[in-house]
This record gives sequence, C-alpha cells and structure tokens, in this order.
Amino acid sequence: MDIFRIEGPVRLSGTVSVNGSKNAALPIMAAAILAPGKSVLRGAPRLSDISVFGQLLVDIGCKVTTAANGDITIDSTSIGKPVGEYDIVRKMRAGICILGPLLARCGKAQVSMPGGCAIGYRPVDIHIRGLRELGVQIDLENGYIVADATKGLRGREIFLGGPFGSTVLGTANVMMAATLAKGTTVIESAACEPEVTDLANCLNKMGAKITGIGSPRLIIEGVKQLKPFEYDVIPDRIEAGTFMAAAAITKGCLHIQNCRLGDLMAVVDKLRNIGVTVEAENSGCIVACSGHVRPTDITTQPYPGFPTDLQAQFMALLALAEGNSIIIEKIFPDRFMHVAELARMAADLRKEGAAVIVSGVKKLVAAPVMASDLRASAALVIAALAAEGTTIINRVYHIDRGYEKIEERLNPVGAKITREGDGSV
Ligand code: EPZ
Repeated sequence: MDIFRIEGPVRLSGTVSVNGSKNAALPIMAAAILAPGKSVLRGAPRLSDISVFGQLLVDIGCKVTTAANGDITIDSTSIGKPVGEYDIVRKMRAGICILGPLLARCGKAQVSMPGGCAIGYRPVDIHIRGLRELGVQIDLENGYIVADATKGLRGREIFLGGPFGSTVLGTANVMMAATLAKGTTVIESAACEPEVTDLANCLNKMGAKITGIGSPRLIIEGVKQLKPFEYDVIPDRIEAGTFMAAAAITKGCLHIQNCRLGDLMAVVDKLRNIGVTVEAENSGCIVACSGHVRPTDITTQPYPGFPTDLQAQFMALLALAEGNSIIIEKIFPDRFMHVAELARMAADLRKEGAAVIVSGVKKLVAAPVMASDLRASAALVIAALAAEGTTIINRVYHIDRGYEKIEERLNPVGAKITREGDGSV
C-alpha cells in the first residue's frame, strides 16, 4: 500500500494543467449503454474509478479499450448481462448510474445497492422514486435493486428533490432512462452541476432531445433510438479547485490551465473574499496569495453553490487563516473524516454537528496521517505542503481515485512529494 512522504513548508509556483472530469466521465461512460455500437470518450482521466467503471461495463457485456492517448472506446453492441455486481459496485458508488441506461436498453436490470463510504450514508431512494415514475417496477432483494421495465418507459413530470436538495447521479439515471421513454419527461429539481450538463450535451449529440440543460427543470422528449457518441469530457472543476487551495495555502502563484472559471464561481468568490487573487487567463486562470488568508464562512450547497467536494480542501486552507472560520456541510453532514487528521497536524478545529469551527493557527506541523475519502485525502496533501516537517500520508490509493499522479503534477511547481510502496491497494 503506497504512502506519500511530503516535505514542507514549500511555495508552489509555475503552471499546472487540469485533467478531464472524473464525475463527468463516469455517467457518460454509462450513456454508451443506450446506443448499440462503438462510442469514444476523449479526455477522461486515468484514475482507478474510471478503470473500475470500465470493468463494470465489460461485466455486463461491453468491450472496453483504452488507447495510449487515454481515449476510451466502449463497444456496447451486445449487453449479455444487465447486472451490476456487488463486488464492483461496492468499490465505486457511481456504478449505480448504469441502472437507467440498462432499463432503457434492455428493459430490465439488477444493480447492487451501493455500499457505505467515508462520507456517510448515501441512499438511492430518489433514483428509485424517479425510475418508478417512468413506469419501472422496482424491488429490493438481497442488497440488489431488481428493476423491470418490460412494459416500457413512459414520460412523466417528476420531482427529484430530496432533503439535501438535488441528486447528481439520480438526475443522470432518470435523464438517461427518459431519453428512450414514450412521450416527454419533465424533471423538476434536477441537479445543475456541470457534470450533469456535460452528460446532457453528450446525450443530445447521440440524438436525444433534452432542453433546459443547466437549469433545475429538464425537459426530455423521448426518441426511438440513439446513436453512439464521440465526445470530449469537460475539465475537472474539483481538481482545479484543489490546485487553487494548494496555491493559496503555500502563498504561491499557480497558472492553472484547462480550468473553466465559470464552473467555479462560488469557489472563486470565496478565494477573493479571503484575499487570494484569481485572474482569468487564456484557457485557465492565475491564482496567487502573498500573505495569510482572511477567515470566512463556507456552506456547501448543490451547484452553483460551494461544492461539497472542495469542503475538506478549504478547511485545510482556512486552518492557517488569521481568525475563526465556520464550515457548514449541507450535502453530506458526516463528511468530516479529515477533521481528526488535520487536528493531528495542529489545526484547531471544533466540530459542532454538521459544522466545524476553524480557529486559525500560526502554523501546521507535519505528522503521520491517514487518507480516507478522496477529497479528505487531497486536504491532507494541501495541509502537508504548508506544514513544517515531513508528513506521511497512508492509504494513498484514496487520492489516486480522484487525482491522476498528483505528485508528478505538483513536484514540478515546487512540491516535495515522494511516493513509497509497492503500488498495491
Ligand atoms: C455525486 O455523487 C458525486 N459523485 C460526488 O462526488 C459529489 O459529492 C455529489 O455528487 C454531490 O455533488 C459522482 O458524480 C461520481 P448526490 P452523488 O446524489 O450523485 C442525498 C467525489 O468526491 N441523496 O448528488 O451520489 C445524498 O445522500 C464524489 O468525487 C438522497 O437522499 O451525490 C446527499 O446527501 C463524492 N437520495 C445528497 O442527496 C438519493 O437517492 C446529494 O447526493 C440520492 C442522493
């Protein structure tokens, strides 16, 4: 099992480039199920989640190949086994989003309920509610969602909101199923994340008829069939935001290429609010910070609000702010595995339910820490860049799920990260 050895403090300076979005690529890979034939996804990151999703597609009957340049070809000509096995789906929650496409393509599907994960309970009741509205018969048997749409899918007005707002993969599942339903589907309280928009744009390229893209009200006019896609995935806004926090905490200056600032307005607003400069520049931006950051308050919300996937990284940044900040987690109230680990590095944090009070300290101190969910692990890397001494991060495979060879991208701009271990998970 790999570990990271990270020397600090350092100052990051130079140019980094953002990879394709993991969370856009995964549902688009599922969309290949909808159209028999060869689809090609360009620009997907080389991450373990992407390869696990490829294994899932192979397991249901697709042929999946990845070219040397990273392009993924998915041949979905024959789907012999519309079943998402527990052994694969438990490794990666996104496996749930083969459900909608399998129902639209095969008329039936069995997908394992996703397991728990480090960020807390992750129900799929809204996925199920939305698909039932489309006419799907769904039962839960032995940990599997057993779904039958042999009577066909029919368009409906569907409300997809839940106690924590919209659902990203729930919107993806219902939207994909609705593309081949009879009649028109309206999804109210649809997720508006850029990754959902990217999926909708890809579906329309396949011949779907979706309007209201990017809004909470999606209108999907069912069509008879779709054609395979060739599609370029959008840049990963969460990776971009992670690099922004790294530039700020090290009082550095990073030119972040292939970054769409429009996808990160809530994050850019917070950075400017705490004294970090963010300037648009060609295909990206320049992020710089000369002194301590000011404290602030962050509440995570569905897009276009502050993304929950950057909550941990910004907690690390605010641990060194000049004053007290508060971070409120409204999407995954238990998403605080990083709090204890950051406290080991001398961060002064007090958890109060779904909120953490971050009292700024003068310095962070290196310590051995444990990675947990992929974004909490990125927060530990960020903290280690600014901490005094050598930080050891265990279970680096969590970071590898969301960030492709992060040490090879940060070391050229001043980081001192050494990966040690046998590469096993
Ligand atoms: C996606 O997960 C992302 N994953 C997550 O990123 C991200 O944190 C999350 O959206 C929120 O933005 C992928 O895209 C692969 P949700 P998803 O359904 O779709 C509740 C990362 O770090 N909910 O939008 O599974 C749920 O419990 C990952 O890359 C229900 O109650 O999240 C949560 O509180 C982590 N019932 C809220 O909605 C449901 O049926 C939002 O979850 C579905 C969700």
